[in-house]
Amino acid sequence: PITYIYAREILDSRGNPTVEAEVILDGIHKGRASVPSGASTGRFEAVELRDGQERFLGLGVEKAISNVNTKIANVLLGENALNQGYIDHLLIDADGTENKSNLGANAILAVSAAVAKAAAAALGVPLYQYLGGVGTDVMPVPMMNVLNGGRHAANSLDFQEFMIMPVGACCFREGLRMGVEVYHKLKLLLAKEGLSAAVGDEGGFAPDLKNAEEAFWYLKEAVEEAGYEPGTDFVFAMDAAASELVSEKSGRYEFPGEAKEGGHLVSRSAEDLIDYYEALAEKYPLVSVEDGLSEDDWDGWQLMTERLGEKLQLVGDDLFVTNTKRLACGIQLGAANAILIKLNQIGTLTESLNAIHMAHRAGYRTIISHRSGETCESMIADLAVAVGAGQIKTGAPCRAERTEKYNQLLRIQEELGELSSYRNPFAKE
Ligand code: PGA
Ligand code: ZN
Repeated sequence: PITYIYAREILDSRGNPTVEAEVILDGIHKGRASVPSGASTGRFEAVELRDGQERFLGLGVEKAISNVNTKIANVLLGENALNQGYIDHLLIDADGTENKSNLGANAILAVSAAVAKAAAAALGVPLYQYLGGVGTDVMPVPMMNVLNGGRHAANSLDFQEFMIMPVGACCFREGLRMGVEVYHKLKLLLAKEGLSAAVGDEGGFAPDLKNAEEAFWYLKEAVEEAGYEPGTDFVFAMDAAASELVSEKSGRYEFPGEAKEGGHLVSRSAEDLIDYYEALAEKYPLVSVEDGLSEDDWDGWQLMTERLGEKLQLVGDDLFVTNTKRLACGIQLGAANAILIKLNQIGTLTESLNAIHMAHRAGYRTIISHRSGETCESMIADLAVAVGAGQIKTGAPCRAERTEKYNQLLRIQEELGELSSYRNPFAKE
């Protein structure tokens, strides 16, 4: 049984406070987990409890910490940590709200995750195996966010993320190496053009480029410079994070960075954006577009999926917020064909697993994801392998909070050895 629960306030990669929890079973088996924090958060995410007032400019998490140390400890002490579903049910119940605004999703997730890690420790099995069971062997293809924009950097790129995916690699380890080589070639290319190679929140470079088209041009050049072939060795993905671009007044998507670089206003309708993604995918090996339209535009998502769903992976992040209710709605409507999984959008491990299973049953792909504000917690690496997601989004190969996830995947591949598999998620069967 759970004999000890304790939470403390630690710092995330942006220098903001976050929650770290420790759980001990039978006085010996220990699990420790910390939670990340988003910048371009979806409107329908579970609530991250913050203290307000002056401390840490309002971002302190002392209330969340105290909720773990009192209310949550009261409910969970003495319970069986091997029963994750029941533990998470108790947490959801103790909170009592739809969006976890009472105890805080940050408090709840830290405990939910620490319980799972303690349970794996007690059983003496690695976390990916505890969560995935026998036969767990699929290593994810990394979606490496090598150009940062949007809310993750102060540059001119309006879209948030431009990613490279080493789909042609023979294994995760080689894929990671190839991605790292392209990342360093990209840095040299930017420097040659006199552009900044300073990095954004997710470790990707954040130069002032003219527009998305130019961003993909640089990705293609960097892939070729590194000696690889765009389209076979590497494909590209983007996160438009379009909910951040939509103007409340006009309902159109505004591009202030592109406008500044080009010297004229730029705004696009939902249909313009769909055409735009289609054109980008014709010119570059773009295979995946995340949050291509806003989180409120179900009609637009239906249209986009109708028009591009055969050709492109259309990923709902802010749209679905790892929430089975919103995902069920999307499946019903035929909106998107993949879901981004972020544990802290929903707040417990069990609810996240439910979303993953619902997605897989409906033929939607799943991508396990970090947040822009991270710690060196590497649980998502284990989760990606456990559920056979096939794709993980955890930033550029830069900044320890990003590389720690990749490093954990290297450890897992080493442990699985010959048993591990790695496949191009977009290959036709
Ligand atoms: P966030 O960004 O963590 O700032 O929300 C990540 C994403 O949008 O995928
Ligand atoms: Zn996103």
